[in-house]
Amino acid sequence: MCGIVGYAGSRPALNIVVDGLRRLEYRGYDSAGVAILAGEGELVTEKRAGKLANLEKALADDTATGLAQGVTGIGHTRWATHGGPTDRNAHPHRSADGRVAVIHNGILENFARLRAELEAEGIEFTSETDTECAAHLLAAELRHLGSFDGDPAERLAEAMRRVCRRLEGAFTLLAVDSQAPGAVVGARRNSPLVVGCGETENYLASDVSAFIEHTRDAIELGQDQVVLITPAGVSVTDFHGTVVEGTRFHIDWDASAAEKGGYDYFMAKEIDEQPRAVADTLLGRHTENGDLALDEVRLTDQDLRDVDKVFIVACGTAYHAGMVAKYAIEHWVRIPCEVELASEFRYRDPVLDRSTLVVAISQSGETMDTLMALRHAKEQKARVLAICNTNGSTIPRESDAVLYTHCGPEIAVASTKAFLTQLVACYLVGLHLAQVRGVMYADEVGNVLAQLQDMPAKIQTVLDGMEPVRELARDLADSKSVLFIGRHVGYPVALEGALKLKELAYMHAEGFAAGELKHGPIALIEPGTPVVCVVPSARGRGVLNDKIVSNIQEVRARGARTIVIAEEGDDAVAPFADHLIYVPRTPTLLAPLVTTVPLQVLAGEIATARGNDVDQPRNLAKSVTVE
Ligand code: F6R
Repeated sequence: MCGIVGYAGSRPALNIVVDGLRRLEYRGYDSAGVAILAGEGELVTEKRAGKLANLEKALADDTATGLAQGVTGIGHTRWATHGGPTDRNAHPHRSADGRVAVIHNGILENFARLRAELEAEGIEFTSETDTECAAHLLAAELRHLGSFDGDPAERLAEAMRRVCRRLEGAFTLLAVDSQAPGAVVGARRNSPLVVGCGETENYLASDVSAFIEHTRDAIELGQDQVVLITPAGVSVTDFHGTVVEGTRFHIDWDASAAEKGGYDYFMAKEIDEQPRAVADTLLGRHTENGDLALDEVRLTDQDLRDVDKVFIVACGTAYHAGMVAKYAIEHWVRIPCEVELASEFRYRDPVLDRSTLVVAISQSGETMDTLMALRHAKEQKARVLAICNTNGSTIPRESDAVLYTHCGPEIAVASTKAFLTQLVACYLVGLHLAQVRGVMYADEVGNVLAQLQDMPAKIQTVLDGMEPVRELARDLADSKSVLFIGRHVGYPVALEGALKLKELAYMHAEGFAAGELKHGPIALIEPGTPVVCVVPSARGRGVLNDKIVSNIQEVRARGARTIVIAEEGDDAVAPFADHLIYVPRTPTLLAPLVTTVPLQVLAGEIATARGNDVDQPRNLAKSVTVE
């Protein structure tokens, strides 16, 4: 939540900062702002409610010379927490003396106390945000350090450390000081911040997409660290001033991955990238003797043999991937596997110990609910394996082992390729556990791996046949409500289809286990209600196929318009389908890799037909870094 970018170099900062914000806008789009340091004494800020385009318009009309010339700057795109999305509450926030400008991602939990304290000292607040406290505190610390012996940039870093020691909650802060030309200071606790390292310029950002166009060398920061960038270098300390080494890494994404590449919107591109993304997740994953190659492993085979229970924690779409994983893990590994929403897990005192394996699934690696669940699990001595897409993010760093999905940047707020690749990663974890624990033989694991290798081509086949789904979407655009039903792994797919439609089309949508229909939800069906039915294979799970065919008849008998997603050759469903979408034959457990795709396309197209912003749906942000 909230995108943050900072630049210290020798080129005009404004364009670099605004370009960075454009790439980070998916993290929040309630308002945007910049602060540019033109030189000692001149600090220009501009900020606007609404999308980045509003800020860009204001910048075009702004004649302040420092704006165009300054070579140091910070920028922010906001997802509002404290204070509505207004010009006043947009970041940056200035201190009362105008000396510093601060931007922030996160929530300062002790802000009410700090604000009261500052107001008692006579400071007048100009916004309702928690962030403004940090600006006033920073200016106060700079005043106290007035006679600081040394360079003004170091003074700014020291002032920031002092402020951070007083803050509670989650924050990434960036600040510039009009009396410290050429310097940007950053700090992080429980919120993302990475450093981009250039030759004579350096960057700070919430994620690497903001600076990937300029450099691929990056530094991952740890918890409770302060970083100072100038054109000449980067220095990192903890909150007490002890110098620490950040972890360097190289970004191997193709820069064009963060561009639309001719598509109308990122989500369409990311849907189309799924065959490649799934292939990338599978690439080089198994050693010759069939062992899973994790990206970072601090778990031994013995640790995995000691596991007597798996807990999967995640949010939203990632949670749906976890629900599918439960079917696969219990089937293959024969140990209990529970899936829980990270936000619930953390606060209900789950039973965990050192023989519990907690699998935390997160595309961004920064979701606060999942991070808190992971920390709780670690406090209970459970071992944590992360499935993540974002190198250098917090969740993998704090886990005992990591399997990166390697699906490339996902810019659209609604998750698509991240979901499919999370599924693949979950299958790999399940297969590996089964093999290490001796429940599956290497050739059995090999068979499933071979089936997984076939999936990119099958997903491509689905994508190639999407025109009828697009037509259907246009036809459904005025529906009041759409229901989704499924059984077995089709149930999480139904939930995922409904989630996509809610978030993109702003339409009432609900997913149900088809068996639950008669226990209540069937009352929702009115003549013409669209019901999307995700049908399990008639081969693998024949009995479930029969049952859902009955469910389809039941809803149809009550007037529903049925949209049926079934396996090629499943003729039994055809008479009951108002619209029939066939997907290639696929082993039951892997079927979500193909059945989800039409639902993604359907949601994206309905949203387009309704005139919605597909990539940046209202009220949402890509990375949810507050609880
Ligand atoms: C929905 C969606 C969200 C995320 C959820 C978790 O399309 O994208 O539901 O799946 O916010 O995010 P990560 O995976 O980053 O932890």
